[in-house]
Amino acid sequence: MSARPLIDRSSDAVGTALRAIADATDLDALRAAERRIDDEFAAIKREIKSVDAADRSAVGQALGTAQAQARAAADARRGELEATAGAARLAGERLDLTAVGAEYRRGHLHPVTQVWRELEDIFCGLGYEVHGGPEVEDDWHNFEALNFPPGHPARAMQDTLYVNLGEPEQVLLRTHTSPVQIRLMESQPPPIYAVMPGRTFRRDTPDARHSPVFHQIECLVVDRGITMGDLMGTIEVFFRALFGDVEARFLPSFFPFTEPSAELGVSCPFCSRSGCRTCSHTGWIELGGCGMVDPNVFAAVGLDAEEWSGFAFGFGIDRIPLLRNEIDSLQTLLWDNDVRFLRQF
Ligand code: DAH
Repeated sequence: MSARPLIDRSSDAVGTALRAIADATDLDALRAAERRIDDEFAAIKREIKSVDAADRSAVGQALGTAQAQARAAADARRGELEATAGAARLAGERLDLTAVGAEYRRGHLHPVTQVWRELEDIFCGLGYEVHGGPEVEDDWHNFEALNFPPGHPARAMQDTLYVNLGEPEQVLLRTHTSPVQIRLMESQPPPIYAVMPGRTFRRDTPDARHSPVFHQIECLVVDRGITMGDLMGTIEVFFRALFGDVEARFLPSFFPFTEPSAELGVSCPFCSRSGCRTCSHTGWIELGGCGMVDPNVFAAVGLDAEEWSGFAFGFGIDRIPLLRNEIDSLQTLLWDNDVRFLRQF
């Protein structure tokens, strides 16, 4: 037999093979096609012995080329199908980490609590301790030990809320945080460096500037050789930490538990004393009171005023978030409790 028929069969086999390979849509189909192609080439190979000896090498060559062509096409197709299968598997396993889940809105601290904590932080940084005391007080701690004797006119300035308990007018909602000074000196020996933030109560009708429940912070230092200079320096450092570049102002005043006493003010942090709405065009903002601990207070708690000296100051906390956030009314800050409003701060 001549070489021709087998050479033609080889090239037919390649044509069929290339089509089958191109048509294979997955790796299994490709493997099946390759098996059929191999079978066909093997069949051709078996026929070679019936070709005339001189022509056998021509058939062998044609067969080799055909096989190589088919193998190259199959390899290329396998590469493609593997890539597609890999991509499909990845797509199936994909986990979208950016998907947005159910949203929880996180709350935040009330503006008063934020300032309360900030004040504590500043004083802790100066080495002070933070103390608390009861909101329901007795007359001794709220007034008498603070040198407000019964009938003293300074008592009348604090519109006291008495509680119906025990002796008449002996139990009350504390009108200031100063009674915590007494409790502290009764419970531990000096030196004392402490701040006492807390809730305080007075019989006021709520309006933009008054609230029957409000917040104060008290400071007490008792040590040997404490002077008015220590008081003024401490307040100045503290005001700068709270408001930035400001000055403290001390105006002579009277409080029964300090001698001398002063009103405590700060230069307006919003207009640098040039006058604005916040400071009512005065350049200053009044915050509270201060002074040197009165010897009568030391006597009330059994401390020797010859040995110990100290200073105290106290002021309202609520004023600070009002000023900072330009909130007009104490009512809005403390009473309305409107989350839509408070959320901003
Ligand atoms: N307790 C005073 C008040 O509520 C404020 C005050 C003034 C506190 C002078 C002090 C102080 O510690 O030394 O009006």
